[in-house]
Amino acid sequence: MHTSEASFQIIAELLAARTGQHLTESRRWRVNSALAGLFREHGISNVDQLVCLLAAPPRGPESPDLAQDVVEALLNNETYFFRDRPTFDQLPEEILPELARRRREVRRLSIWSAGCSTGQEAYSLAMLFLDQPERWHGWTIDILGTDVSHRAINAARSGLYSQFEVQRGLGVAQMLRHFEETERGWQVRDELRAMVRFRQHNLLGPHPGRMPFDLVLCRNVLLYFDRTTRALAFERLASAVLPDGLLMLGAGETTVGHTERFVPSAPRASFFEPAPASAEALRRRQA
Ligand SMILES: C[S@@+](CC[C@H](N)C(=O)[O-])C[C@H]1O[C@@H](n2cnc3c(N)ncnc32)[C@H](O)[C@@H]1O
Repeated sequence: MHTSEASFQIIAELLAARTGQHLTESRRWRVNSALAGLFREHGISNVDQLVCLLAAPPRGPESPDLAQDVVEALLNNETYFFRDRPTFDQLPEEILPELARRRREVRRLSIWSAGCSTGQEAYSLAMLFLDQPERWHGWTIDILGTDVSHRAINAARSGLYSQFEVQRGLGVAQMLRHFEETERGWQVRDELRAMVRFRQHNLLGPHPGRMPFDLVLCRNVLLYFDRTTRALAFERLASAVLPDGLLMLGAGETTVGHTERFVPSAPRASFFEPAPASAEALRRRQA
């Protein structure tokens, strides 16, 4: 299906303005298939017609935000429980015990899953704590999941997953321990739900916590940012991680060559520490 260059640019600019995501030429082929549902809903057949609809004045304050629907349709929400298992396994084995040692006085950990999509990442984190009840007895664990997509956050809050989704990344025992089968799908159990809060948030804005976090996960989100936007995202993430906290990226993602604010937490892959200068600046700001 042909899309004119002008229409493609308008859609790309809309996506970049609302999310920072860069619609590269190589992702152009995805646009029509990603927007197929919206075409059907509005009785149109191509992106040029959609751009005309976007230009039309809204029918009233109650009219749905078509621009936001377009943005949501173009976001890549791919996720699953315990994505990149080997990296995730480092959390209960190494990272969380280390953070716990640093916070043994306050017995509190705060974790932010930035770009959590439909919630699997945040719930996976929560399961790590619930699966070691003795280890975490008496601790306050605060897990916040955020995403720029309203639709993804609503799905995350519902905690309802299809058979396909619940099987992706979860073993049977873990699935039965934390989910209940209902007529509508697999529902997270109350104990798991109670551990996670979800909120719509653009990670290019100020971080969403009252305080910086002990651990921030931002996995498979920065891939579609251009260089400048990625640098801005790292600035935001740097202000969100405590000086002795950690940043966790997706498998194969790195801060090296993109920001001076973090250094690899070698030899652990995918984990990064605030760079000494950056950590010192944050410490001074908090003093
Ligand atoms: C591919 S998913 C990754 C989900 C999860 N972190 C994982 O690794 O499985 C990327 C998510 O980032 C979200 N996202 C994209 N741009 C964002 C932004 N500027 N702020 C917050 N979330 C964003 C998308 O909506 C999408 O849900």
